[in-house]
Amino acid sequence: KERKLILAIESSCDETSVAVIENGDTILSNVVASQVKSHQRFGGVVPEVASRHHVEEITLCIEEALAEADVKPDDLGAVGVTYGPGLVGALLIGISAAKAFAWAHDLPLIPVNHMAGHIYAAHFVEPLQFPLMALLVSGGHTELVYMRETGSFEIIGETRDDAAGEAYDKVGRVLGLTYPSGKEIDELAHLGEDTYHFPRAMMKEDNYDFSFSGLKSSFINTVHNAEQRNEELIVKDLAASFQASVIDVLADKTIRACKEYPVKQLVMAGGVAANIGLRDRLSKEVTEELQGVTFIVPPLRLCGDNAAMIGAAAFVEAEKAHFADYHLNADPSLSF
Ligand code: KG4
Ligand code: ZN
Repeated sequence: KERKLILAIESSCDETSVAVIENGDTILSNVVASQVKSHQRFGGVVPEVASRHHVEEITLCIEEALAEADVKPDDLGAVGVTYGPGLVGALLIGISAAKAFAWAHDLPLIPVNHMAGHIYAAHFVEPLQFPLMALLVSGGHTELVYMRETGSFEIIGETRDDAAGEAYDKVGRVLGLTYPSGKEIDELAHLGEDTYHFPRAMMKEDNYDFSFSGLKSSFINTVHNAEQRNEELIVKDLAASFQASVIDVLADKTIRACKEYPVKQLVMAGGVAANIGLRDRLSKEVTEELQGVTFIVPPLRLCGDNAAMIGAAAFVEAEKAHFADYHLNADPSLSF
């Protein structure tokens, strides 16, 4: 069988990542250089800092990914790169590196949508089967995407304001936790109980949209009011209450969407897909309520930003002969 090797590059936010993927489903290497420590003291990603780190890391990551995969540039068949959505300056570093590499080694260039990449991360767990529903939950996105076939994406619902991960990070800041705080809130939530009963926005509405800004405000008000009155706050219960509210709306709408649309699989992807509470809840509800539907969540290391997922999505694009020329530009607000 012919070996089709793709070098994949991801630099849309605060991780510089390069991977070598074989035939779209086997990871030969997946190097991730995280900048998270450099952004922590600012409580969020600083675009200019991110770009500088990408410049410093990108060639090292390419060399490391090739060495780890034991692959020479001549063995490769294509270069895939994220061109959006993301931070424009960050995206441009990956795109420039991909163009230079493709030009130097006479390889075709494949433009990849970062969010498609998150969905295709599930392909490393189990071959994707269509039609499928994908719940994409990250720091920048919260959306339900319906895929009738490979490479086809239809957003059936999305957040009207904050993304789920963004809400976790903002609430974490109020609690004085380190950025990004999703993982820590998830851990605290498992120790506490839903005693604060925050709102579940839009849960009963007849659509697949989400809203998290009301929950965030309600949380912040609760904390500030308690501080003013010198009342004691139980942090683990605050975390549990916040998380219960997020999980209730995400799970409710996702399961409803899977009942309305014909689906063979439900894929959950993006950084917030690492959330243990959300994984457990959806897994249980799919088993109980959706006969014949398989629930797939990528392993934790493939939930956050990485280039392996970009390589999997690039393989699909290459099969469809979707290539780019050297005019390829970053598209910071790229949608499906
Ligand atoms: O997909 P990702 O790595 O980057 C974006 O493209 O946004 O997602 C990062 C987000 C952050 O907001 C982070 O707090 C959140 O994912 N996150 C979590 C968990 N682990 C990471 N949120 C909730 N529970 C977690 N266990
Ligand atoms: Zn992402």
